[in-house]
Amino acid sequence: MAKRRQFIAGNWKMNKTVSESRELAEKLRAMLDGFDAADIAVCPTFVALAAVADALRGSRIAVGAQNLYWKESGAFTGEISGPMLVAVGCRYAIVGHSERRQYFGETDETVGRRAAAALACGLHPIVCLGETLDERRKGATFDVVRRQMQGAFSGIGPEAIGRVTIAYEPVWAIGTGVNATPEQAQEVHGFLRGLLTEKYGAAAAEALRIQYGGSVKPENARDLLSQPDIDGALVGGASLKAEDFAAIVRSCRL
Ligand code: PGA
Repeated sequence: MAKRRQFIAGNWKMNKTVSESRELAEKLRAMLDGFDAADIAVCPTFVALAAVADALRGSRIAVGAQNLYWKESGAFTGEISGPMLVAVGCRYAIVGHSERRQYFGETDETVGRRAAAALACGLHPIVCLGETLDERRKGATFDVVRRQMQGAFSGIGPEAIGRVTIAYEPVWAIGTGVNATPEQAQEVHGFLRGLLTEKYGAAAAEALRIQYGGSVKPENARDLLSQPDIDGALVGGASLKAEDFAAIVRSCRL
């Protein structure tokens, strides 16, 4: 059984208008009122952050962004900075999601810059990594996640590591309905914790939460979350339905 408090985050991706986002947040607030067995966050689009933060103010559900830029301000048309996210009420920021790597040119190096920038302004980054199907078939999974970790953590010192969450998201499991088996996920989570131990020592590695992401649903959440090194979930599709997301949150142990 994992030793860490579970952390369930919903990644709403490019879904829902501002009013739809507020409505979903209000539903979740009502459904999860008083639930204390896990940390919970939702990550709406940038334009809905203010409304969702407002709807969740004073609740147990925190708000996160789906990305950030590493400069604080300036001539960077279209970008959003960490201090802006803090000002709107964010606690978390997802960095390095595979969709950003796949469609928007994100590299291990830029993921590292974003993670460091998030920490510099007081945010808690959720650093995503994971192999493609091709990489898994070639037997390269461990090499890929090691390389991704080296890039993402290059600017993260021991003083900041306590605010970091990792999300292991095998690309072949994202949005496909095919989740990694609990054993497949546990194997990689255990490997990642070993890398963390080498870099930051056992205490920091034991404290850091590693979420699993990729087709997490109410039906498979409990089995995944019962693995020793799976400390929560980053949920895409199923986080768009209040009932499903609340059911996943409730599958966390007490
Ligand atoms: P999914 O997405 O739950 O829809 O597979 C997970 C993610 O991309 O974070």
